[in-house]
Amino acid sequence: MPDDALLSLQLDHLKELQVRYESALADHGFDSLLVASGAAPYRYGDDQAWHFQGYGPFLHWTGLTGREHCWLWVRTGQKPVLWLHEPVDFWHANQPLPEEPWQAFIEVRSSQSPEAPLLDDPGTLAVIGDPALLGTAAGKQNPEGLLKALDETRVRKTAYEIECLAQANRMALAGHRAARDAFVNGESEFGISLAYQQATRQREADAPYHSIIGQNGHAGTLHYQYYDTQPPGHPRSLLIDAGVRFRGYCSDITRTTAGPGESHFAAVIHGLERLQLRLCDMVAPGVDYIDIHRKAHQGIAALLSATGLVTGLDDQSIVEQGITRAFFPHGIGHFLGVQVHDVAGKPAPAPEDAPFLRLTRQLEPGMVVTIEPGLYFIPSLLESLLAGESGQYLNRELLSRLRGCGGIRIEDNVVVTGTGSRNLTRAP
Ligand code: GLY
Ligand code: MN
Ligand code: MN
Repeated sequence: MPDDALLSLQLDHLKELQVRYESALADHGFDSLLVASGAAPYRYGDDQAWHFQGYGPFLHWTGLTGREHCWLWVRTGQKPVLWLHEPVDFWHANQPLPEEPWQAFIEVRSSQSPEAPLLDDPGTLAVIGDPALLGTAAGKQNPEGLLKALDETRVRKTAYEIECLAQANRMALAGHRAARDAFVNGESEFGISLAYQQATRQREADAPYHSIIGQNGHAGTLHYQYYDTQPPGHPRSLLIDAGVRFRGYCSDITRTTAGPGESHFAAVIHGLERLQLRLCDMVAPGVDYIDIHRKAHQGIAALLSATGLVTGLDDQSIVEQGITRAFFPHGIGHFLGVQVHDVAGKPAPAPEDAPFLRLTRQLEPGMVVTIEPGLYFIPSLLESLLAGESGQYLNRELLSRLRGCGGIRIEDNVVVTGTGSRNLTRAP
């Protein structure tokens, strides 16, 4: 049971959402808005559906994940109404709804039908949700301008959201400790996944994303998606990127551990972690997130030099020649919220030197971002680097010793505060 302080923060959150939504609706000429929670589609040619989590705006209001065919009606000047889909069904169960104070703010009605409810006096109505499920629901469906404005309501998190994200971090950290222990005890990727799920009390399908658990060379695939059921003969490294959802809110944490005897790899991890902490410290209001990304490249250049992976080239040239891009090909992070890659991060396209950056904004209080530098030994990227002009500066012998460790990523979740930042992943 969540504590009273959190439940009371949730009421403030809902009041704030009502204000933000009323303003967005007024700006776009609407009186009310119907939000569809959505439903999982069936797999093509099959009678099995994909696992369902939920639509962002619905989660933003309710935090209720895994609830298909529910509808939320937000109205100017009136209480929101939530229709919970609770069909009589002997194949599936309906999730019980615990009684909580937010139900004083949102009227809850039970519904047998998956269809949009009939609304009493909706005024000028917008309906948002998965277009495949909106059917002929009355109202303007998914109006682009309004959708953008609603995404913007998710950018500056309320105190309630930040506490949920903090709790999602605490829960995931317990999982990361268990995963690390499982690795040290010689478990396979599959065994490590079980240890993570056991410690977080969360089945993987309900996590914000499928855990990325790679040992040895697998750690060099950014979103490695399989699990070996047997441990490697010689465990050299573990990269685990895994989160938890708490009341709809996601954590997104990555840790890398060196195997026994891997002192050189451990030194690179240590260097990247020191850089990662410096980058986390850069998070503050007014800072351009792209600058944190660029600082990461400079730091990785310095680390490549310090560890002897690159020799005979100054740090700036290491970046300019694209060497850091080969070792760190992704962006420094993204917004985090009810979606792991939360919305509205990219009003402007990513700059040419950071094509995969998902967040290109100046930081403001209330934003929550990830900071996730990496340093990987990715065969396809290293091969072209070694074959090109810059190949002469790479320490081939050291590279061939380390590449079997796959790579490193270290990822924390950081809130922008009024004066600086709060790192939710390293909270005491
Ligand atoms: N876990 C996916 C990411 O870090 O963005
Ligand atoms: Mn991650
Ligand atoms: Mn991330």
